[in-house]
Amino acid sequence: MSKMNAETAGRQASSLGEEIVGRIDRLGAISETPANLTRIFLTPEHRAAADLILAWMVEAGMGAHLDAIGNVCGRYEGERPGLPCLMLGSHYDTVRDAGKWDGPLGLITAISCVADLHKRGRRLPFAVEVTGFADEEGVRFASTLLGSRAVAGTFNESVLGSKDSAGISMRDALIQFGLDPDHIGAAARIGSELLAYIELHIEQGPVLETEQLPVGVVTAIAGATRLAAKLTGMAGHAGTVPMALRRDALAGAAECISRIEEVCRTDEGGLVGTVGYIHAEPGATNVIPGQVHFTMDLRAPTDTHRKRAVTDIVRQIEAIAKRRKLALQLDVTHENRTVPCAPWLKAQVAAAVAAEGYPVFELPSGAGHDGMAMVDIADVGMLFVRCRGGISHHPDEHVDVADADAGARVLLRLIESFRPRNAAQ
Ligand code: GLV
Ligand code: MN
Ligand code: MN
Repeated sequence: MSKMNAETAGRQASSLGEEIVGRIDRLGAISETPANLTRIFLTPEHRAAADLILAWMVEAGMGAHLDAIGNVCGRYEGERPGLPCLMLGSHYDTVRDAGKWDGPLGLITAISCVADLHKRGRRLPFAVEVTGFADEEGVRFASTLLGSRAVAGTFNESVLGSKDSAGISMRDALIQFGLDPDHIGAAARIGSELLAYIELHIEQGPVLETEQLPVGVVTAIAGATRLAAKLTGMAGHAGTVPMALRRDALAGAAECISRIEEVCRTDEGGLVGTVGYIHAEPGATNVIPGQVHFTMDLRAPTDTHRKRAVTDIVRQIEAIAKRRKLALQLDVTHENRTVPCAPWLKAQVAAAVAAEGYPVFELPSGAGHDGMAMVDIADVGMLFVRCRGGISHHPDEHVDVADADAGARVLLRLIESFRPRNAAQ
């Protein structure tokens, strides 16, 4: 058998998709609670997942370590040690009651691709690095993309003081995890070490399924603004205070939420808005709520559109608070501009898709990804894999094994045919 045929036969005998799905299941079992998947930054589950991923990286022929913020970092040397790298990656934290695929699919697929190169003794004219980011979702502390921001050297140290719902600061959580909050800078990489950053991710929407395609080429990652609102009124007796005299913070929040929904529903340019968290105090059936905290997540296809919508919604919330005599505190907790995928990388992703025999289909990403932070040190490319029913951030999130395999084959082809920017032009 020729070398080429032996390689192809080896790949077919053990499908990359089956290996990936097996590992997705193993990682998906590492959860705060057994009944639903929740894996949050700097928890025992974060540690257990990191240990498992590091072991897979070593098995795939990589040098592997945990970095200063808890990212897992693997490196497969090129034809000689110390070459600049093509970095692949995604995150391994989850939202609460999550699906198994959001994040881990890209990370595990990248490891399987490197393992395939390693099995064949294939070295490339560049190194391949795989990074599993410790926090992309931003569930525990208000800010997101903590892992990739640390790698990009843009981690904002002021967030170390932010506290989780149990009152534990990020600084203390890092120390409890065994990391040094004063040395997060050690996770930072410099742009000249990276040839590009490429991420494979579940689509998290219904477009590829509608198009009946297993994979798609991402054009851009939509920007987002997140805000935290605090409305303060006056707590009081539910039976004695006449309606006209109340300063009910929860009724005020409800009006704000309906207004946000109305603004987004009537927008014709794809604006989406979500209030995903609300907390009322003191929180008793017979007490008028005196204080309410809620969050907002606003996204639109263009930054101009999103910024205009944020200004409009903030004005409307201010007016509601004023009319209801509620004190309002509004803080922007996260803001990311829209990140276009680099045209030269899009072309290489598309070529790999076509070479694997699939139609090339381009689509934007409405969800946020680590590339939004990585773009500060590297050009970014992304490949989407079909998501059943378009369901994500939900336990029913699913990728078929055949699609996981298709994604892996495209990624492997992309790695093996990758040409750095100067060579590509
Ligand atoms: C990440 O999943 C986000 O888009 O919020
Ligand atoms: Mn997510
Ligand atoms: Mn994700």
